[in-house]
Amino acid sequence: MKKIIALFIIVLSLGTVKVKADEGMWLVQLIGDKTYADMVKRGLKLSKEQLYSMNKSSIKDAIVIFGGGCTGEIVSKEGLIFTNHHCGYDAIASSSSVDHNYLKDGFWAKTKKEEIPCPGLSVQFLVKIEDVTDAVNAKLKDIKPADYTSKLPGILNEMSGPVAGEPSMESRVASFFKGNQFLKFTYERFKDIRMVGAPPESIGKFGGDTDNWEWPRHTGDFSIFRVYMGADGKASDYKADNVPYVPKHFLPVSIKGLNDGDYAMIYGYPGGTNRYETSYGVKLKIDIENPSLVNLRDARLKCMMAEMVKDPAIKLQLASSYAGIANYWKFFDGETKQLLKHNVIAQKEKEEAAFVTWAKGKAEYDNLFTEVDKVVSAWRPYAKGRVYLNEGIMGSPLMSFASSLKALDAAWSNANAKPEDLSKAVATASASFDRFIKGENVASDKNILAIVLKMFNKDIDATQQPSAFYNMLKTNYGELDKDETFQKFAKEVFEKTALLSKDNFMALLSKPDTAALHKDLAFKTAKIFADNFNNNFSKYFTEYTGNSFALANKYLKGVLEMKKGQAIYPDANFTMRVSYGNVKSYVPRDAVKYKEICTLNGVMEKYKPGDYEFDIPAKLLDLINKKDYGQYIDKKANDVVVSFITTNDITGGNSGSPVLNAKGELIGLAFDGNYEALSHKIAFDGELNRTICLDVRYLLFVVDKLGGASNIINELQLMKM
Ligand code: ARG
Repeated sequence: MKKIIALFIIVLSLGTVKVKADEGMWLVQLIGDKTYADMVKRGLKLSKEQLYSMNKSSIKDAIVIFGGGCTGEIVSKEGLIFTNHHCGYDAIASSSSVDHNYLKDGFWAKTKKEEIPCPGLSVQFLVKIEDVTDAVNAKLKDIKPADYTSKLPGILNEMSGPVAGEPSMESRVASFFKGNQFLKFTYERFKDIRMVGAPPESIGKFGGDTDNWEWPRHTGDFSIFRVYMGADGKASDYKADNVPYVPKHFLPVSIKGLNDGDYAMIYGYPGGTNRYETSYGVKLKIDIENPSLVNLRDARLKCMMAEMVKDPAIKLQLASSYAGIANYWKFFDGETKQLLKHNVIAQKEKEEAAFVTWAKGKAEYDNLFTEVDKVVSAWRPYAKGRVYLNEGIMGSPLMSFASSLKALDAAWSNANAKPEDLSKAVATASASFDRFIKGENVASDKNILAIVLKMFNKDIDATQQPSAFYNMLKTNYGELDKDETFQKFAKEVFEKTALLSKDNFMALLSKPDTAALHKDLAFKTAKIFADNFNNNFSKYFTEYTGNSFALANKYLKGVLEMKKGQAIYPDANFTMRVSYGNVKSYVPRDAVKYKEICTLNGVMEKYKPGDYEFDIPAKLLDLINKKDYGQYIDKKANDVVVSFITTNDITGGNSGSPVLNAKGELIGLAFDGNYEALSHKIAFDGELNRTICLDVRYLLFVVDKLGGASNIINELQLMKM
């Protein structure tokens, strides 16, 4: 711990802040003096200790990892949590039925008794951070670069995991600066989480996928939960008599409103960026990876939507999975467009040329980018096939589940397997069946399978296809350019497989009969495609990722040396970060200026009665017509401000993150990035990048006026002046 701080003080605090004004996702425990001084200059009114302290309570104690990939914040002394609607989406959909449809109609607990437990949902608080760089390096010493990425996760896993004697604590080691530093984060996990409030989807997801990743934006993207603890004050599984969690710190909520230029600070868990991606990597992404992924997702989404519109029960069943696929379908499409528009390849080439100039005479960096070029070029011919396997064939939920049974197959085939290994493999298979079948819609999956099998045949190089399989299709089912051929085959898979019925699957699990498993048409099909890749091409992938990592590790080692004395932040990796900036309007294109706020007036402009994405609840319409806005009105706008934008640097994983004013009061919830800067994972755009934030006053207005949940409002510490 101490050592890494010493190191970072050198790295972060000497010299001037050279990064563009608002670029940077700073490790909150390592904010250097210069960065802190810049925050103050930009308007911050808090001490460094108030931002982060290991011993005293600080803002960091109010920030949680929400579920598997979002951020949440504690807003009351009784463990109340705000996060995004799209972060609570799965919990809201899972708690719903066609008769009690909280996704459609919203949900408001008026007392704690009415709150709904959410099995499987958890939140994690950050407890401590240690430097483990030397320990990891010692283990990496004898490993060949080509094996780095296959071995490193195992090494980090070994050093992570449960904390002895602390059943609710777990640690995870994360890699920084492409393996130049390793930090171990310890978290306390709370598993008794209850749903307190959610707006109807027509507010929480207003604008749907049409407006997703775009500004102007009129989405009320929030949901409310509460974390409970055991009566002894410790984390506990769900128990009816658990008590609300008492936080070390909770965020006061400001209803004072905001102005263009105001200071804004965002805490949270950005999932991943790759800001030192090379020009060669960007090219691979633009040419092959992104377009392939977008095409395949497009096809899958159409199959799902065709069924969702037919039946509210299917809509509920598929909604969460659909939203997840659609979110990054649009992201990757937009990312490609922005990478091209901003000519990021040329930007990267310039950075690489500058590095080469700096590295002249330093032998260890000789030919660095020639090597990168070689490594990427060697992988390029196989890249599409891998995307088509993972996003295509395995994009069929049945194929993905079937493929997961390869672990069972391996255990059953292992003559030396111990009885406990066998029963563990069976238990795992049985649990994944339950998860799979809950989300399985046969009609859409059957169409997905038919389409992706055809796309694989049409788009992938003939030398990389399982040719025996396609020859068999041609012989038994028909010509390979006809949809019917694939539909006929998919129909048979779904009719014959034992993987779609509990009884049949339990019968299959009841004895270790690999022959029966191998005969199952779904398992057989999944295995053909998985084996085709694993036996023939995965070695190239391992070499590609391993060598790329080793070269990136070297590049970043050089960059850290080259930029010594400048403030430099590590790529996002789902560890706690803080970013700072300002509320700010922008100019997206010639002659157009986007204001920094959106209002209910704009909701009415977009409102389309009966529409799938742009309808609103009758009660909201009524409140707008009556202008019944209470204390939540923005005086300047003479309207309720729904959302606003800031210059902060965030990315996916930050969803639900608190947006704080200069005093550390909650003014909003970050929920999206803007379309014009969708290249942000790879290159931050200092002009165009914006974070889209829900205005907390809109949240309060919906809770109070639409939900009638004054109990929630009363629990908060509202700052009115
Ligand atoms: N783009 C948002 C994010 O990644 C998610 C928005 C969810 N809404 C949707 N229409 N899919 O955080």
